[in-house]
Amino acid sequence: MNELCSLLGIEVPILQGGMGNISNARLAAAVSEAGALGTIGAGTMSAKEVERILLETKERTSKPFALNIALTVTPAAKELIQLVTKHELKAVSLSAGNPAPFIPYFKEHGIKVITVAGSVKHAVKAAKSGSDIIVGEGYEAAGLNSPLETTTLTLIPQLADAVNVPIAAAGGIADGRGLIAMLALGAQGVQMGTRFIATQEAPFSDLYKQRILEADDTGTMVIGRSVGRIRRVLKNNSYAEEILKKERVGLTLEEYSNQTNETHHIKGAIDGNEKEGYWNSGQIAGLITHIPTAKELIDSISEEMKQTFNRLERYQQKQV
Ligand SMILES: Cc1cc2nc3c(=O)[nH]c(=O)nc-3n(C[C@H](O)[C@H](O)[C@H](O)COP(=O)(O)O)c2cc1C
Repeated sequence: MNELCSLLGIEVPILQGGMGNISNARLAAAVSEAGALGTIGAGTMSAKEVERILLETKERTSKPFALNIALTVTPAAKELIQLVTKHELKAVSLSAGNPAPFIPYFKEHGIKVITVAGSVKHAVKAAKSGSDIIVGEGYEAAGLNSPLETTTLTLIPQLADAVNVPIAAAGGIADGRGLIAMLALGAQGVQMGTRFIATQEAPFSDLYKQRILEADDTGTMVIGRSVGRIRRVLKNNSYAEEILKKERVGLTLEEYSNQTNETHHIKGAIDGNEKEGYWNSGQIAGLITHIPTAKELIDSISEEMKQTFNRLERYQQKQV
């Protein structure tokens, strides 16, 4: 139990990253039931849809969970902020925008604010504005990413030196070894997205899960760099390959945004349609080889943490 866990009321220092429009009640509740923090991803859903999911999550678990609002992506952001307080969520996760204007409102209502940041500058600003927890997300991560392209390995220790609030490392973590590595760099826990895609409760298509299992260390690529919008996706997908080809000859930001909007995200992730939809994935996909339940996954990470600590202890004894 560290400060991150006690702030969020969780037992294991793992946050399930919000996945816009697709991380649903079943997955978030299973993660929370297993002792970590489940998160609903609002994406572009209406407030009514999000409220239905929040209620379903509450029926499935009485443990803490969060709502992720991608501030510049979620059209209903202002209404969702009210929903977070109405349903007395333990925490809200704010990404893709400046959280500062919203933080005082959450603080007044006793809700913990988690801000996702891809740079030290952004994290320092968020912490100064009152964010309780910073998720430092590196270039390895799935989905929309900071155009600064800073890696998790380099970002986390620099964040740890710069802010006084607990940090969760995101981007490139899928097991207990990764978690311990992030603790060594100064984080108090991790946020994972890609690893949770390949779980039994995740609502994604079997084909998407299968392609995550098939991916190796070179299985992802970045689309959108030509228009300043970095998104990490699986390579093995004809729709994403097509976008990359179009970028080589020139794609406007508007065309790119239309072709990667939530409709195409859902077509890929939920419908498993690889001709019309893409699959977000982080570089760590190459490490993922099976599809456990959320509880099996979290228990196995806890076990791997113990084994890793033991290995490091033996290493230290030999050195002394
Ligand atoms: C399918 C998918 C959708 C995502 N959507 C969002 C989102 O809506 N908002 C957000 O802040 N992060 C989003 N992310 C990022 C995750 O919350 C998480 O920070 C990231 O996946 C961590 O890196 P990893 O994939 O290497 O574990 C998404 C990730 C995935 C895999």
